[in-house]
Amino acid sequence: MNSQKYYLLLLISLFLGLSSCTSAILEDEDIGPIVTTIKYNDDVKNIASANCVSCHGESSPQAGLDLSSYVNVRFAAENGNLLNRINNQANPMPPSGILPSSTRAVVDQWVADGYLEN
Ligand code: HEC
Repeated sequence: MNSQKYYLLLLISLFLGLSSCTSAILEDEDIGPIVTTIKYNDDVKNIASANCVSCHGESSPQAGLDLSSYVNVRFAAENGNLLNRINNQANPMPPSGILPSSTRAVVDQWVADGYLEN
């Protein structure tokens, strides 16, 4: 192979390499916003631990409501007053003040996603 052909081959492979990088970046941009699924273990558990479990813990919970496990939080959301109370401006849970709407939106999305555990 003479050196001219060698350079041509080098140029072509360089071009192919670069263009494949470019198309990979464009494809990433086409994916759009990242949609996350809300799960109890990743998201809701932390919200309950930080805002509810101090009063609604395993030992002598307020109103007899223990919010320290997946099964109990799901039950309170599905069959109880959890959603009403966290969104109740006049009588919110926690009693110290209604949670930020972004936090309440996570719980709403968890319900919409079907109460996933993990
Ligand atoms: C400072 C203590 C405290 C914290 C923190 C707290 N609660 Fe409560 N919770 C109470 C008390 C006391 C009651 C009973 C009186 C009432 O219903 O207002 C209650 C009642 C409830 C009820 C009504 C139970 C029923 O059977 O109707 C729900 C639902 C509830 N809490 C959910 C939550 C959730 C969810 C959180 C966290 C986002 C939370 N609470 C945080 C003290 C607390």
